[in-house]
Amino acid sequence: MPKAKVAIFISGGGTNMAALLYASRLPDCPFEVVLVASNKEGAGGLKLAEAEGISTFAHSHKGMERAEHDAVMERAAQDAGADYIVLAGYMRILSQEFVSSWAGKIINIHPSLLPKYKGLDTHMRAIEAGDSHGGATVHLVTQELDSGAILEQVKVAIVPGDTPVSLAERVKLAEHQLYPRALSAYVGRGSDPAFLLDKVRELALKLPETHERESHGSPGFRVGTEKSGKFFAHFNDQHHGSEHVAVLVKTGSMDELLSLVETQPGTYFKPAYYGASGWVGVILNRPDVDWDHVSEWLERSWHSVAPNRLTKLIDAADQF
Ligand code: GRF
Repeated sequence: MPKAKVAIFISGGGTNMAALLYASRLPDCPFEVVLVASNKEGAGGLKLAEAEGISTFAHSHKGMERAEHDAVMERAAQDAGADYIVLAGYMRILSQEFVSSWAGKIINIHPSLLPKYKGLDTHMRAIEAGDSHGGATVHLVTQELDSGAILEQVKVAIVPGDTPVSLAERVKLAEHQLYPRALSAYVGRGSDPAFLLDKVRELALKLPETHERESHGSPGFRVGTEKSGKFFAHFNDQHHGSEHVAVLVKTGSMDELLSLVETQPGTYFKPAYYGASGWVGVILNRPDVDWDHVSEWLERSWHSVAPNRLTKLIDAADQF
């Protein structure tokens, strides 16, 4: 899989940016840093990024509307070809426009164990509350501050005599381990068979009267009763030497199967054994899988083997 391109936004020293950058240079890291951008022209991290040969960009937000400044930063990220925006000590709240057009593609690190202590002064608040641990959280960014889905967290013990400064220092050490790892897992999820199986399972089991059953050692999905149901999808994780993680679904004919494979070899393949009886493999471990398209295939395959009593209901509903 090609590496995910990330633009890192910073406002300060950029130690998390540095941790991400060096992680990206280790073998097999699934992301590369294409830009470090800041709202502060003098941000320390910019100099380091430059010295490391990374493109940098700075534009002060002073005297600008929020959305206007976001658009300038967004343009820089787009020009650099970024797939993801990674916030690392970026001290700006992002406008709704920006957050919604990058939904699922903006990630942040916050120095507390969210949902505890959103906002500022997290270490002081944890110490004053007498907590045994502080920590850090990597999460998706949504419109509501520090409230998007949590990707990963790490706990850091609070020791007697800790001050907000001493705790912050130790939490940063933990952040530097956590952020590259959480980001790698998130951007690399498209080649993780467990993630792909979960997606297929969710879509397949949404269809009427379906259940999961293993077949030849792989997960499969059937429609109908436990006793007389029929398979409409099989999940394949690099089966029989294939490099693909795929879902197998039923085509209408061998001609259709062969033409799909010939015209769209990046999307479809003819699987071992199943191919002979008209099943096509829809490849899932590729960038930007269209899950609506996968869902349409599952539905069509379901339809082709479902008992009449079920398809009749669906076909009747479709007429309205
Ligand atoms: C980190 O503590 C991070 O959790 C928070 O801002 C700080 C940035 O530090 N969002 P640095 O600039 O990466 O050193």
